[in-house]
Amino acid sequence: MHIPTLISHKRDGGELDPREIQQLIKGYTSGEVPDYQMSAFAMAVFFRGMTPVETAALTRAMMDSGDRFEHRAGHPPVVDKHSTGGIGDKVSLILAPLVACAGCWVPMVSGRGLGITGGTLDKLESIPGFRVRIELAEAADLLEKLGVVMMGQTDRFCPADKKLYSLRDVSGTVPSIPLITASIMSKKLSETLDRLVLDVKYGSGAFMRTKKDAEALAASMIAVGKEMDVEVHALLHPMSEPTGRAVGNALEVAEALECLDGGGPEDLRKVVLDLSETIAGVSREKLEALLDDGSARRKFDDLVAAQGGNPDDLPKLADIHKAPVIREVLAETTGKVSKVDAGLIGQAALQLGAGRAKATDGVDFAVGFDQLVKVGESVHAGRPMCRIHARNHVDFDMAEAMIEQAVGIDSH
Ligand code: URA
Repeated sequence: MHIPTLISHKRDGGELDPREIQQLIKGYTSGEVPDYQMSAFAMAVFFRGMTPVETAALTRAMMDSGDRFEHRAGHPPVVDKHSTGGIGDKVSLILAPLVACAGCWVPMVSGRGLGITGGTLDKLESIPGFRVRIELAEAADLLEKLGVVMMGQTDRFCPADKKLYSLRDVSGTVPSIPLITASIMSKKLSETLDRLVLDVKYGSGAFMRTKKDAEALAASMIAVGKEMDVEVHALLHPMSEPTGRAVGNALEVAEALECLDGGGPEDLRKVVLDLSETIAGVSREKLEALLDDGSARRKFDDLVAAQGGNPDDLPKLADIHKAPVIREVLAETTGKVSKVDAGLIGQAALQLGAGRAKATDGVDFAVGFDQLVKVGESVHAGRPMCRIHARNHVDFDMAEAMIEQAVGIDSH
């Protein structure tokens, strides 16, 4: 196969044969196809797009680049959810144990935060000792024992995606619907699922800024699921305000625990139930009962213990990761909250150190926001709108200014 010809064909708007895509990805994974050719190819796809058949072929080729889950005969329904990423999105921490309680297997392979959106692995690692590096054999044992595992992508799991995603990150080719589709779906379908629900976010705090783009991404991922015979559902959620009231790694785990204990912010509980309902195979009432009667929380504790953490640390997370400066931001006027700009809050959390600007950066587990007001709530002058957890006073002042800009209040 002559790679420059293949790249030129895509550059000129041609359609590639699935076998060509398969060979390209195979060559890229083995190192035969260098980064400079792959980045030219990614840019050609960025401008020219891909047909559903090409996108499915790319997804399959990336799946074929590594190992997949192989579930034993007679296994329960294997399900998962994927979110395209948002601010304060701690849904996975609740949904995975909850759906496992409903009798499903949830082999959840998650990612780290990048840019303003947080990542499930970073949140989990704020629990001391929690191991996210799990090989497939151990994952299979955890599924058998608990029905759930929460882990990162290993070197043997979709290696082509791992390589290509890093390349896209530095070559201006991340926001391409076929490339995002193949990246996400190759990882999720390598879990060998029966059902998948996609939480596609749009708005200032999301990858997809408009609902139209989110619909196009959802349709592309559903089409690939269909090609691969997996039931894929997609729910679209606006990400104009953060999910829940907490943003930041340990702070989000604390809020997820509230939800696992049957409480927590209403919007968080609703999105957990909306997504869980589409894959769990039990009623919403049953799922609510599993949250309210402590079952989901017990499952999460068991998962933490099985993956190296100590469940006794969970109630103490706020003390384990206590930022040096914890102070409230007070409202200047009385009125109704008209906006809480998720994009700005995400940016502020990133600048506090809760997220990473580059894939190789570390994250600060302690910093972020909690007790954040929600759109539609009343606030009073001099009363708190949120609490900032910062490393120092300079960071606090920066975050306070950003919060004041992010929160809009309509005065009466
Ligand atoms: N998440 C992924 O895993 N891949 C993408 O391309 C975008 C988001």
